[in-house]
Amino acid sequence: MESVNIERVLISADEIKDKLAEMGGKITADYAGKDLLMVGILKGAFIVMADLARHIELPVEFDFMAVSSYGSATKTSGVVRILKDLDQEITGRHVLIVEDIIDSGLTLHYLIRNLEVRKPASLELAALLIKDGIERPPLDVKYEGFHIPPEFVVGYGLDYDGKLRNLPYVGIMDTTGLDD
Ligand code: IMP
Ligand code: MG
Repeated sequence: MESVNIERVLISADEIKDKLAEMGGKITADYAGKDLLMVGILKGAFIVMADLARHIELPVEFDFMAVSSYGSATKTSGVVRILKDLDQEITGRHVLIVEDIIDSGLTLHYLIRNLEVRKPASLELAALLIKDGIERPPLDVKYEGFHIPPEFVVGYGLDYDGKLRNLPYVGIMDTTGLDD
């Protein structure tokens, strides 16, 4: 088996926990008295979704979409394909999209346009990580976790070649010798 090295821990499990608690607190306050539907983007967002949701003190519902953006293991091509759509209608619902990371922003840009057509009552975005220094279409991320350098990271839902999603922290991977 090919071995992959973590160059360094970028964000520790404790730092992530504190940040998600803070984000959950804001979401709880903002959606008080409203029916919130959290939409996680599979697969990467499953861990953020689960942990963030446990800091939200509201009768929240959950749904998931699975998308795939074509590209190599470490770069996206911007072409998005919906592999699994939402189970429920979102017309008139307060929808909060939950993402692990915003890199090129192309996945979310596409998804937002796709979901807006369905006329939700509101549509907001939460993302644990945002890569700095990347040119992307304008995205209004209402609940953001950490800004990180434009490097390839793994853990806390983020994979390299399908693996490493279960690391409890966000780490920078040593990409020496890997495809680009
Ligand atoms: P986008 O480039 O913003 O469209 O990001 C698309 C998807 O690529 C994200 O939802 C992640 O699943 C994945 N991705 C982007 N950057 C990284 C990274 O640094 N590590 C692992 N996956 C990433
Ligand atoms: Mg991915």
